[in-house]
Amino acid sequence: MRISWITGSPTPAKVSYGPSPSANAESATGNTSSYHFLLYESGQIHEVVIGPLNPNTVYYYRLGDQPSSQTRQFKTTPSQFPIKFAVVGDLGQTDWTRSTLEHVGKSNYDMLILPGDLSYADLDQVLWDSFGRLVEPLASQRPWMVTQGNHEVEKIPLIHRTPFTAYNARWRMPFEESGSDSNLYYSFDVAGIHVIMLGSYADFDASSPQYRWLQGDLGKVNRGKTPWLVLLIHAPWYNSNTAHQGEPESVHMKAAMEGLLYHARVDLVFAGHVHAYERFTRVYEDRANNCAPVYINIGDGGNREGLASKYIDPKPEISIFREASFGHGVLEVVNASHALWTWHKNDNDEAVVSDSIWITSFSSNPCKQ
Ligand SMILES: [Fe+2]
Repeated sequence: MRISWITGSPTPAKVSYGPSPSANAESATGNTSSYHFLLYESGQIHEVVIGPLNPNTVYYYRLGDQPSSQTRQFKTTPSQFPIKFAVVGDLGQTDWTRSTLEHVGKSNYDMLILPGDLSYADLDQVLWDSFGRLVEPLASQRPWMVTQGNHEVEKIPLIHRTPFTAYNARWRMPFEESGSDSNLYYSFDVAGIHVIMLGSYADFDASSPQYRWLQGDLGKVNRGKTPWLVLLIHAPWYNSNTAHQGEPESVHMKAAMEGLLYHARVDLVFAGHVHAYERFTRVYEDRANNCAPVYINIGDGGNREGLASKYIDPKPEISIFREASFGHGVLEVVNASHALWTWHKNDNDEAVVSDSIWITSFSSNPCKQ
């Protein structure tokens, strides 16, 4: 588990941890970094990787080297089925976000996966700090695995040319461990699921490092070990909302990579970007296809830009369910063959289940073309 935190003044990048509330069985040290963005100077960004850890176990931990510092706790992911993912995109930091996080917090999830657009800092770096404080109660207790969206780019022509400065400094993901050369795309295995995080805002054409990495990563997937193959992007490849139609990150990335996903029998693709919910049937090259992934857009986390509520009419046949409401999704992978997907709206005090479907994995139910 990688633990990241930020302090205003220099403190050691050290974590004490253990299975009992004293949190002192083990300790580990890591790195500290910081970054500049225009006049803003970040705090001390500490990162410590701890372990090995037992699966499905609560650990207690303390940050820094003060024995008096606050004791926190997290739970590791299970090593086998079942496992429950919370899925939320385009989160932001509004009252809608707070409502989404409250519902996510009650879902008893094992891991959160986020298909891009986190803080909506949009160059104002203190909003990365406030976003960190907003998600800390949840993100300090479960692994949060994210990929980037357009709001993470934060590039200013001539003045700040390096993209993803804050995102890469604050949300470091295990890309090196998956053979990737960039924090913008990576993969990992968890409890029988191989999860691939792609970068909609990194090069994706057939000659790009990301494309070659994806090809290699898909080639290494062992469906005996990880019967499920799930992939996240930011800009959706299928979308019947009028928002974000025709963008290169959707159209060109789909043209470049859809065949790779199809032939690898990816089970499920999550995207964000469009601030609404939409679920498609299994689809390849714009047609229903039993051997293709189910595509789900879940960009309804609660950002400040509001909902995208206009749709292309009539609804294309490949779109099964679409609605512009804030909410989150839960993917409960029950075993090697079955997973339950549910979409929960924030409208009521209890997160309402508004769409639900059982999905079967290709590894246990090979498709017939
Ligand atoms: Fe976006």
